[in-house]
Amino acid sequence: MQNERKLIIAIDGFASSGKSTLAKALADALGYVFIDTGAMYRGVAYFVSMHGLYAADSIHEEALIQRLDEINLLFGAPNAGNDRPLLLNGVDISEAIRSSEISALVSLIAVIPEVRTKLVDLQRQMGQHGGIVMDGRDIGTVVFPQADLKIFVTADIDIRAQRRYIEMRKSSPEITLASVKSNLASRDEIDTKRTTSPLKQAEDAVLFDTGLLTRETQLEKALSLVKALMAQ
Ligand code: DC
Repeated sequence: MQNERKLIIAIDGFASSGKSTLAKALADALGYVFIDTGAMYRGVAYFVSMHGLYAADSIHEEALIQRLDEINLLFGAPNAGNDRPLLLNGVDISEAIRSSEISALVSLIAVIPEVRTKLVDLQRQMGQHGGIVMDGRDIGTVVFPQADLKIFVTADIDIRAQRRYIEMRKSSPEITLASVKSNLASRDEIDTKRTTSPLKQAEDAVLFDTGLLTRETQLEKALSLVKALMAQ
């Protein structure tokens, strides 16, 4: 399917629902570029943490907004397949943005409209020529409402917590399953209730429950949706 129409594919869904895994596999299968927009919000959170722009649970919003121009986020050349490092002002922060500190900060940053405007502009530039699978929370609703294919990914919170726990234990051995689940629940709450671009399923999105489908089935299902679009 590589030489045909270059589609824009939007994959949105809850934290740790498996959307990045599906998005990456789909991009690999189609020879498309994969963009993890959650990593971009995490990149801004990393900047906030690096410059001490927060105290306790509150972000120094005005200071951050004034310094947004200092944040230059870019995905570098791929290491393997579609695994591209996230660079903040030229420095690879791909590992650092997965820490529990950044996971706790990021939802607070993602509610700031100026941050969203900056990242949405950047995401639109990245996807303007198609041939892209972009995952996030608002890709099908705000970034690319005209996307060719929209998939909304969900899974039971216990399944998502277990997945994230296994992933985070590598970098934070002290982490507990209960704390991971509570972080996910609070992010779900903030992500779905915020006024700017809340997480919600686009009307024309296809729903995937990754707790009920194997990775192989998800990919097959997504590829058959792409095939049907190509045949139109
Ligand atoms: O997908 P993730 O867990 O790495 O995303 C990190 C945070 O960024 C998440 O709490 C919500 C936010 N986010 C967003 O608001 N909009 C996006 N398009 C992607 C992520």
